[in-house]
Amino acid sequence: MNLKAENPIGIFDSGVGGLTVANAIFNQLPNEQLIYFGDTAHLPYGDKSPQNIIRYAQKITSFLLSEGCKAVIIACNSASSHAYDILKKEIGEQAFLINVIDPVVDYVAKQQFENVGIIGTRATIKANVYEHKIKKAHPLCETHSLETPLLASYIEEGFFRKKEITQLVLREYLSKPTLKNIKALILACTHYPLIKADINFYYDQSVHLVDSTDVVADFVSALLSKHQLLNSSGNQNHKKDHCFYASDLTPTFEQTAQMFFKNPLNLQEKILK
Ligand code: DGL
Repeated sequence: MNLKAENPIGIFDSGVGGLTVANAIFNQLPNEQLIYFGDTAHLPYGDKSPQNIIRYAQKITSFLLSEGCKAVIIACNSASSHAYDILKKEIGEQAFLINVIDPVVDYVAKQQFENVGIIGTRATIKANVYEHKIKKAHPLCETHSLETPLLASYIEEGFFRKKEITQLVLREYLSKPTLKNIKALILACTHYPLIKADINFYYDQSVHLVDSTDVVADFVSALLSKHQLLNSSGNQNHKKDHCFYASDLTPTFEQTAQMFFKNPLNLQEKILK
């Protein structure tokens, strides 16, 4: 691999969800330049066919590679579930490719959780990738999966700021018998950390919530450090160097990006051909 430490890190998702991962990376690795792509024109990925999710992920990954990214983070569980293996083969040695599932599975195995719930989009839950990988890494762990298809679109609409409605929607999903008796819950969609406080409120802190934000940031940090690819050039907190692209520049995308990264932001609409 012929990668340089000063090259940017590319991150993508269907919309604002991956910003939760970008924000964790930004906090942990402030010297890194981030290029974010939110595919808002095709959101939600969770209801799309695997073929379409793969096609979108391929286009975005090529764009991020053309921007010179040393690492590409698939900050979307639906795309990590369906497109990771294919992208990995396609990009080969051009850059590091990171999904949001493997670091979470490692974390669950390390914590030795035994009764774990998983909530995510239809695409993620149907793919069964979490169950499969957890069974391998930690055979004693029982997993209980539930599709929660409303949540990502709801969060994308900015409803995560509306407490009461959020509790109603969460109660509908989290009270399902499948999730009875769980000790930990994997938030298997990068949009869900935006309503983590509401989920904690529902469980009254009695269930350990696992999400991909810090876990993935730790993973990226360790990987880049191992390959001497951490940017140490001291460009600390130059937020104007980060780029945020959206295939449809929606008000929620702008507001959420601003909420995490404050002003001024380099936000651009970008339609990939
Ligand atoms: N944030 C994404 C995920 O982790 C996608 C949500 C969606 O677009 O359906 O799966």
